[in-house]
Amino acid sequence: MDNLKTILGRARAEGWSMGHFNASESDQFRAIVEAAKEVGSPAIIGTSEGEAKHVGRLEAVALREAFRREFNIPVFLNCDHHKSVAAAKEAIDAGYDSIHIDLSAEPYEANVMGTMEVVAYARAKDTLINVEGELGYLRGESKIQNEKIKVSKKDYTDPEQAKDFAAHTGIDRLAIAAGNIHGISLDEPDLDIDRIKAIRALVPQNVALVLHAASGIHDNQIRAAIEAGIANIHINTDIRVAYTEALRNELKIDPAETTPYKFDAKAREVLKDLIKQKLRLFGSVNRI
Ligand code: G3H
Ligand code: ZN
Repeated sequence: MDNLKTILGRARAEGWSMGHFNASESDQFRAIVEAAKEVGSPAIIGTSEGEAKHVGRLEAVALREAFRREFNIPVFLNCDHHKSVAAAKEAIDAGYDSIHIDLSAEPYEANVMGTMEVVAYARAKDTLINVEGELGYLRGESKIQNEKIKVSKKDYTDPEQAKDFAAHTGIDRLAIAAGNIHGISLDEPDLDIDRIKAIRALVPQNVALVLHAASGIHDNQIRAAIEAGIANIHINTDIRVAYTEALRNELKIDPAETTPYKFDAKAREVLKDLIKQKLRLFGSVNRI
């Protein structure tokens, strides 16, 4: 099975993007893997710090292992937005394939130093662990936000700084800010495609660019972002909303149902359909 770095390189060269989907329940893991298997796509499952705490890091690794064995497809586990070196190291020790160390809220020097430390720790454990750093300011949260969230150009990733960051840290992936915001707000995000192109032009080609916060972004913008060089796209809010709405609906249809595997089956199906739709949009089908 190809490793994550190889697949991301292939995605970039062939003009498609790998999907990264967040999960905190085993049936969500299953929905992601079944969807990927059905369309012949690799996939990344992400657990944020909160999601990792809920499912358990060792448990998430065990689930990834079991799903790989059962479905025989390249499915990887990423610790998403881990905001301290200590948390990132815990994920490395637990056996995650991919580490997103997000020190973007720190001053630049501290971001570089902390990210470097995580890269060194990961490489010492296993050179195939893929490390993602983040630069720029991503507003919002992975939920429905009933307000307008203004993004300022000052939040965007600076291309020259991105080049410097990649050179000093030795990361494999870089999460960027270019008009994207976490969650769904009253404004439809407007990606700055030229900024993505400018970052892509300066960051070494072996570093994959990551677009976070893709829920709520128009399909045409997603396609343009991939064309501009994005090789990995993160979706969380769309998943949370689809899953929770389906669960609520099922419980409303039959309030007396108390068997979880009966009332959550529909939510899993809904999630599977959503993931397949995203994988098609990302051009990731039949890429195994
Ligand atoms: O890291 C996770 C993603 O960036 C999720 O963003 O909730 O806007 O889909 P989203
Ligand atoms: Zn994110």
